[in-house]
Amino acid sequence: MDPSNVRPSEMERIVNDALAEKFIDAQVQAIKEQVGDRKVLLALSGGVDSSVVAALLIKAIGRQLVCVHVNHGLLRKGEPEQVIKVFRDEMNANLIYVDATDRFLGLLAGVSEPERKRHIIGEEFIKVFAEEAAKLEGIRFLAQGTIYPDILESEKGIKAHHNVGGLPPELDFELVEPVKLLFKDEVRVVGKALGLPDAMVYRQPFPGPGLGVRCTGAITRERLEAVRESDAILREEFAKNGLEGKVWQYFTIVPDYKSTGIKDGKRSFEWPVIIRAVNTRDAMTASVPDVPFALLEHITERIVSEVKGVNRVLYDLTPKPTGTIEWE
Ligand code: XMP
Repeated sequence: MDPSNVRPSEMERIVNDALAEKFIDAQVQAIKEQVGDRKVLLALSGGVDSSVVAALLIKAIGRQLVCVHVNHGLLRKGEPEQVIKVFRDEMNANLIYVDATDRFLGLLAGVSEPERKRHIIGEEFIKVFAEEAAKLEGIRFLAQGTIYPDILESEKGIKAHHNVGGLPPELDFELVEPVKLLFKDEVRVVGKALGLPDAMVYRQPFPGPGLGVRCTGAITRERLEAVRESDAILREEFAKNGLEGKVWQYFTIVPDYKSTGIKDGKRSFEWPVIIRAVNTRDAMTASVPDVPFALLEHITERIVSEVKGVNRVLYDLTPKPTGTIEWE
């Protein structure tokens, strides 16, 4: 094992602002030494890990960091806007925003097999990123939001982490991985100390293929929109009703079939929205929280009246196992 990938036993757990500041100062220094006056590239998804890495690098080297935010069209409502606002507008980051929605949705059209969808999304993401990298001159470094569990899981062969070995060989970068010895809770403490908004620091887990695996079967723009809008309503209502930060992960799914209903006094034939909410420690097993029935009724009312093409709402009561958290 690479010794730089081993967390020293004496390393203190970062649990407060003072420890976070100490870590930030040390990393800023280390980054400056490693990078000098050269440029660093970062794929900035807006997730906790890449956002914290971006904020650290901006503090260390400012606009020598080039962030690329690829919008694959499968992000949640408001996410690309938030990345632009926080990093470009507030932190003055050197940010390249690529709206690749049409490319991704074009490739995904008619593809219904979940693993095939994942593969297409992952592969195309690397392609778009590599194309942007090729347009830039003189970039030697690639920053990544690798965290300690990624290293541990890669070492054990549990999963080949997407941050490890995912890029084509012609992109011969030296890696900058400032949070690779941190656990997730420490990354959040550091993110908070760096001034990132709570919505980013305490963001619930969101899969790389995004809403793509929640628009089950072959993705269409209309159904994807129904996923995005219903997800936004669910998040808004959970936040308003004190469930944000209490329930581990919650989202909606729109399956590829319709059922009969009544809208405006007429027969309707539209999609259902499925609400999935889970509590877990490590995502290996999960339980379903007892969400107040009145809130579920209110969310149902909002979704069927506000989301186009939807006439029914269901709450998934299945723990993991037997159900996985995502539906695909
Ligand atoms: P499952 O569905 O396997 O999900 O019970 C466990 C956790 O992993 C997330 N998940 C993914 N994350 N790429 C990711 O980055 C994926 O393809 C993927 N699939 C599931 C899921 O959201 C949950 O938190």
